[in-house]
Amino acid sequence: MIENILYTTDGTPFTTGAAILELSYLVAAILFVIGLKLLSHPESARRGNLWAGSGMVLAMITTLLFHRDPEGNRIALTAAAVVIASIAVASVAGWMIAKKVKMTAMPQLVSLFNATGGAASALVALLEFPNVTGTGVILITLLGLSIGSISFSGSMIAFGKLDGRVKDVSGGIMKYVNIILLLLVVALIVLIVTGNTFGASQGMLYALLALTLIYGVLFVLPIGGADMPVVISLLNSFTGIAAAMAGFIYGNQAMILGGILVGAAGMILTLLMCKAMNRSLLNVIIGSFGGGGAAASHEQGTIKEVTVSDAGILMAYSRKVVIVPGYGLAVAQAQHICSELDDLLTGMGVEVKYAIHPVAGRMPGHMNVLLAEADVPYEKLIEMEEINPLLPGTDVVVVIGANDVVNPAAMDDPSSPIYGMPIIKAHEAKNIIVMKRGMGKGYAGIENHLFFNEKTRMLFGNAKDSLQKLVAEIKEL
Ligand code: TAP
Repeated sequence: MIENILYTTDGTPFTTGAAILELSYLVAAILFVIGLKLLSHPESARRGNLWAGSGMVLAMITTLLFHRDPEGNRIALTAAAVVIASIAVASVAGWMIAKKVKMTAMPQLVSLFNATGGAASALVALLEFPNVTGTGVILITLLGLSIGSISFSGSMIAFGKLDGRVKDVSGGIMKYVNIILLLLVVALIVLIVTGNTFGASQGMLYALLALTLIYGVLFVLPIGGADMPVVISLLNSFTGIAAAMAGFIYGNQAMILGGILVGAAGMILTLLMCKAMNRSLLNVIIGSFGGGGAAASHEQGTIKEVTVSDAGILMAYSRKVVIVPGYGLAVAQAQHICSELDDLLTGMGVEVKYAIHPVAGRMPGHMNVLLAEADVPYEKLIEMEEINPLLPGTDVVVVIGANDVVNPAAMDDPSSPIYGMPIIKAHEAKNIIVMKRGMGKGYAGIENHLFFNEKTRMLFGNAKDSLQKLVAEIKEL
């Protein structure tokens, strides 16, 4: 008799159905990985979503069809109907929201999605807690509950802040309150796990839920509004980890792998953003830019302005022009007119490229998405490391609403808060035109001596208006 000597990870006998189920989870995991890879380029990102999404659909369908409980019973018809109905309602709602959302509100949407993912994982842990046994699984369940609920409440606050509904609250004693809360959470988890022999009360579990919910709120509240993208990416990673833990509770490979992939991708993105800003994660979480970073002690020199007409002539008679887009371009919604300027110059034989800094704007890939919206070809968007060596041979660099990402203080002023942050070396070009409204500072709140550079000419005004005038001027040439 060799019957039933093999078992699946959740303890059910290895039948044909179980084999199909396990295999489908493996295929789903492969689809997630392919999807993730495709998501790394704007051109393939749409396909990436489809591949990863089809992996999820496959895992859901095979689970509904082939899942058996330890007694060998399939999912009850009514339960399956409830699951299908919820998936249908949620999919329609998600589709409609994603269709309607403005590009600039994308971080808010990601926050909301994170919050729902965290809440779902926390609920799984809460409901399954009475059924789990063994110290390891109990610990994983409690961690899933804690991380999921921190991710839920933290993401809701992040959403509120980005949407302007929740005001920034300064750090102060909050730091200490948070440390105490975190210690309480750890103590409670240890108590529940070790108190397993005399039975952990539901009360303690709800206390853990309440504490972690409060911690999520207080952890995100003091973080500077503009640091939210980093925090959102961190919370995204938490949601993935919580989902992986829920997967452990059910012994479900697809959930574990999907969760780990989201957790790892979110963490990598978080660290990349920190690196691109030359700040540690701790500094983002407990500090903010500009603290004490007085203006650089450079001799500032004088500001030289340029007229629209002179700027137009300079660009039109150049061989190579590099545009450096920044946050101001996004605020002014000047991407379409910027693309028109590009077309016009390209039509006149000028080589036009865009220099893309990894944290230009306020969210990862902000400039890529913005310019793609205006149909700028991807080949023209050049990453910082590749464009920098080309800048000394560039006739004109046109900085549109960017500031920190072209600030040479990051290279030559050790006292600057952004010292060490990699920048687009606009100052190395032969001529520099900077378009901004006035002498307003950037996100880091510091002076930029690029504006006082010998080779720099300022074209003051709203980016969209200035570009419209420039386009009109060049058309006249
Ligand atoms: P910033 O340094 O924020 O500078 C933007 C500039 O745009 C401002 O100096 C402002 O000057 C100008 N501006 C604003 N509205 C404008 C308008 N309507 N027309 C023309 N100009 C306008 O932008 P950046 O160079 O893109 O740097 C991004 C910053 O955000 C970095 O410090 C980065 O670390 C931070 N950050 C980015 C991310 C991600 S993931 N992208 C996440 C967190 C933080 P005026 O007021 O004089 O016009």
